[in-house]
Amino acid sequence: MSDVPLNDLRRGYDDRADELAKVTAEVLSSGWYVLGPQHDAFEAEFAESLGVDHCIGVANGTDALELALLSVGCRPGDEVVTAANAGFYTGTAARKAGLTLAFADVDPDTLLLTAATVEPALTERTRAVVVTHLYGRLADVAPLRELCRARGVALVEDCAQAAGAVGEEGAAGSLADVAAYSFFPTKNLGALGDAGAVVTNDPDRAALLRRLRQYGWSAKYTVSEERGRNSRLDELQAAVLRVKLPYLAEANARRRAIVARYVEALGAGERRMVHGSAVDSTAYVGHLAVMSTPSRDADRAALTAAGIRTDVHYPVPDHRQPVLGDSYADVHLPVTEAAAEQILTLPCFAEMTGAEIDRVCDVLHQL
Ligand SMILES: Cc1ncc(COP(=O)(O)O)c(C=O)c1O
Repeated sequence: MSDVPLNDLRRGYDDRADELAKVTAEVLSSGWYVLGPQHDAFEAEFAESLGVDHCIGVANGTDALELALLSVGCRPGDEVVTAANAGFYTGTAARKAGLTLAFADVDPDTLLLTAATVEPALTERTRAVVVTHLYGRLADVAPLRELCRARGVALVEDCAQAAGAVGEEGAAGSLADVAAYSFFPTKNLGALGDAGAVVTNDPDRAALLRRLRQYGWSAKYTVSEERGRNSRLDELQAAVLRVKLPYLAEANARRRAIVARYVEALGAGERRMVHGSAVDSTAYVGHLAVMSTPSRDADRAALTAAGIRTDVHYPVPDHRQPVLGDSYADVHLPVTEAAAEQILTLPCFAEMTGAEIDRVCDVLHQL
């Protein structure tokens, strides 16, 4: 019996192979490969799906975060407050922009930032807060927005893991000043290579982002913006994303149903699915099925013995990343640090078979 994979991108491709072959052949024979009609159409369709006014396609999600930070006026030396449990992507983007990182702890139930956890981390130097909709669960953005507004700080959403998530106030990416998306192949809306986008309702910010993503050009060959770079979404990836976007809601529902099965299998013991309480809500899209367990090593070994692949998202809290040296040695984030020892990611992707889900559930039930 073959292992149950954490994810299997090949199945997602196989399901749409004919449509993908058609659109990619059209792009290849069109002679137009960067910033063409597919890109324009994707920007419009994705913005419409989120209920935002502007989408700016870029090369990947890390660029999207960096450009989003620049677009809200962050300048070298400014401070960015973020969570330390979201894979250091914001850290990479902020450091590239010359910004200083500051970390806030997360809520013990959701492992997300809240206004209450962010507030103590704000200082005079804070220019922006980045809130990550971790594992595909929308953070409670409204109180964060209030807090940031009151303190004159910009709020950026990191929606890389939350494509298709819609809460009472609207879709991921429509809730703050600006938002970053990644369309890395494993994401709920995944390209067949690197891709990303920044979305916003602010027309001036959108125009700035368009300049920044293309050399800082205000017009062709006219460089007017500091910190411009080349970060564009190419035609092939845009065409692929346009094929996949209409299927996103259905795929997300399948992911939620898988996590619901895991919740049921774990029952009421000391182990829990971190976002198990959200499986009936479109504000959760099951990007990663993360369980919290007091005995991770033993549970992981039991799953591995049964041929079930697992991973940890993420094992190293940001403030303990080696690249930062001991700059944050005196920063303690008790919830983040404890969670890093207890989280375990289970297989979850829309194309999982019923038999595979049953195999995972059988082991979870016995833990
Ligand atoms: C939360 C989060 N933010 C940002 C990124 C960065 O996106 P990319 O890999 O496209 O640069 C990722 C994933 O890779 C992510 O999971």
